[in-house]
Amino acid sequence: MNAGCFIAALRRGCLQTFRRPQLILPASSSTVQHRPQSTEVIAAARLPCRVKLKAGKRYAWCACGHSKKQPFCDGAPKAPSIEPLRFTPEKDRTVFLCACKQTKNGPYCDGSHFKVIFRDVVNYVKGAFKK
Ligand code: FES
Repeated sequence: MNAGCFIAALRRGCLQTFRRPQLILPASSSTVQHRPQSTEVIAAARLPCRVKLKAGKRYAWCACGHSKKQPFCDGAPKAPSIEPLRFTPEKDRTVFLCACKQTKNGPYCDGSHFKVIFRDVVNYVKGAFKK
């Protein structure tokens, strides 16, 4: 949908005709974006991963977003300056691990993914009105 159609739909009050573009669709927690050449932190997904952790088991949370085993590190040195965050839970529990890689409370989701989603929406709307 281009900007003209979007504005016309807004004027008609037909927001149902506005279809979200693929760019801002929240990726499922299993969807992973890979940029093998990049060495910077990327969002593996825009929503956290719900994971059952076992007490006493060591985990390595991917902090760079390049791992193919999100939210955990796969050991591939995609971003050598960014180390995985290693942790060992003290009891069995189900948690939400960050997949957007913007959390301040790694490896756990702190809601920062809403900023990522909001930024993508703003960029999309800006792009829609440039056309
Ligand atoms: S998924 Fe990263 S803060 Fe929620």
